[in-house]
Amino acid sequence: MCGIVGYVGPKSTVDVLIGGLRRLEYRGYDSAGVSVVANGHLETRKKAGKLGNLESEITNHPLPIAHIGIGHTRWATHGAPTDQNAHPHLGGPTSKLSLIHNGIIENFAELKAEAIAHGAKFASETDSEVAAHLIAIEYERNGDLIESFSTVVNRLHGAFTILVVHEDQPDVVLAARRNAPLVVGLGDGENFLGSDVAAFVEHTKRAISVGQDEIVILRTDGVELRHFDGTPATHEEFTVDWDASAASKGGWSSFMAKEIADQPQAVADTLMGRLDSDGLITLPELFEDFPVADMKSIDRIIIVACGTASYAGDVTKYAIEKWARVPVQVELSHEFRYRSPIVTPNTLVVAISQSGETMDTLMAIRYARELGAKVLAICNTQGATLARESNATIYTHAGPEVAVASTKALTAQITAGYLLALTLGSARGALTTAEAARLGKELLKLPAKVQDVLATAKQAEELGTKMAGAKSVLFLGRNVGYPIAMEGALKLKEIAYIHAEGFAAGELKHGPIALIEEGQPVIVIVPSPDDEDSLHPKVISNIQEIRARGAKVIAIAQEGDKTVADYAEHVLYVPQSDPIMAAVLDVIPLQGFALALATALGLDVDQPRNLAKSVTVE
Ligand code: G6P
Repeated sequence: MCGIVGYVGPKSTVDVLIGGLRRLEYRGYDSAGVSVVANGHLETRKKAGKLGNLESEITNHPLPIAHIGIGHTRWATHGAPTDQNAHPHLGGPTSKLSLIHNGIIENFAELKAEAIAHGAKFASETDSEVAAHLIAIEYERNGDLIESFSTVVNRLHGAFTILVVHEDQPDVVLAARRNAPLVVGLGDGENFLGSDVAAFVEHTKRAISVGQDEIVILRTDGVELRHFDGTPATHEEFTVDWDASAASKGGWSSFMAKEIADQPQAVADTLMGRLDSDGLITLPELFEDFPVADMKSIDRIIIVACGTASYAGDVTKYAIEKWARVPVQVELSHEFRYRSPIVTPNTLVVAISQSGETMDTLMAIRYARELGAKVLAICNTQGATLARESNATIYTHAGPEVAVASTKALTAQITAGYLLALTLGSARGALTTAEAARLGKELLKLPAKVQDVLATAKQAEELGTKMAGAKSVLFLGRNVGYPIAMEGALKLKEIAYIHAEGFAAGELKHGPIALIEEGQPVIVIVPSPDDEDSLHPKVISNIQEIRARGAKVIAIAQEGDKTVADYAEHVLYVPQSDPIMAAVLDVIPLQGFALALATALGLDVDQPRNLAKSVTVE
């Protein structure tokens, strides 16, 4: 998963690289390193641990002013997170070539034997170093860096984005991409490379997404793209709509705290321009690529996603089945890919991903397309591979999400899921125009309600702080409350390292109730009592069952619920809403709870141990 950045231009390269790495650190933070070429010499600094360690190393051993360089932040695959295994890796007997890599080179063992036979001396245990040596060996033989680079990348198997600079060619950064992300940033007299646009958005908003099996030749005065076979490649430029300042903490204690607070805007921006004032959908980007006739012919929807995005998928399932009356199944991408799913040309596969680079999800959609399905992406990152490889994309406009634990991307994904469900419901005639307009207007009220929940989030934080000693927390919910319960548990596991599980409240008596003992904290999502199909009485019964066995209940309930307070130790109220749309509101106190609890434990909430935000290996 690793983050990579490359630069050529008049600015201070070290500053550009470190700034880019800071924005990409969410991709991995086991080690970091940079190489620059200045005055005809290659200089490299690298250090195990977070980016701060590399910055201290550079302060202690300053780098010269340079106008070309590459930088890397690592999530370890081959080899422990040590200084030696940190990227960049140097190649050749005189170490004039420097290389960074994101991905896994599957045939590295045989290539390493070959490089050793040519006299290469390996300094690390990584799979990546082999590519540095092979390119250097090839270059010594033929004297043509681009040719050598191209020859070697054609021989690599697996997933990789590779960037190379060489002391003898101080005007060019070379890059290659297969199954790992790479975006070019186009500046004025300067150009950039990054794992995603966050790497360079503070310098330029003009970007090109590099295609599969393509090479980039990056110079100050131009960018050339070639396919691996040497033929020219072209891609349309796009404009990044992220505000660069959105990727900075802006006075908040953590990115996660800021991103929780960003949610009213993230939901509003995801709805912007997609519903008219009467509540009717105008989603041009969807209709262009995916005509109403196609929407009518779908007989099944499979949603694929991982982690938090899969819970957005679960909520979307409830919305689509209720409003559009199409059967939906939600699958973890990696499970879908490696069984024998039944997919026909009338199956719509919806892939949900914040990064658009999660390898499990990419493999799932590639497989779905091979099987003849149409793929619709719900994605937050422009230029991402998922968007490029799908038939149509609904972008969530949550802005850059930096904290590893996803918050605003989730609420934006669920919002996009509602838009999709309403679109399908109207196109297929499952909703009358009046019903669709009523629901659309409800949707338009969501950003203000999200703002109201945040205003009362203090209580959730106080509870989280108080419960910092808990060994285990359980979460219960029914209907859309069920995936929200699982998301609440995931947040606690991810950032507070506490055992937590989310259950369907109805499943309680079939096993999980055995876990309840005196003092066990249980957070219960309570639906509105006013809805005609309300599950409120059933959830209240579930609460009584666990309280009778000693559970300490914290309820998330809707304002105006007069009964819930009699059954729970604490009640956190969220504004009333449509029962399906309540998911977006109910999840917010759970985010605040996890954040406060992890903070009280003194943990790094933005960069939890062992995780990376964007998982680009299977
Ligand atoms: C990783 C992250 C999760 C995220 C999941 C899916 O596991 O740690 O926070 O939900 O990937 O990421 P995506 O970018 O596909 O939404």
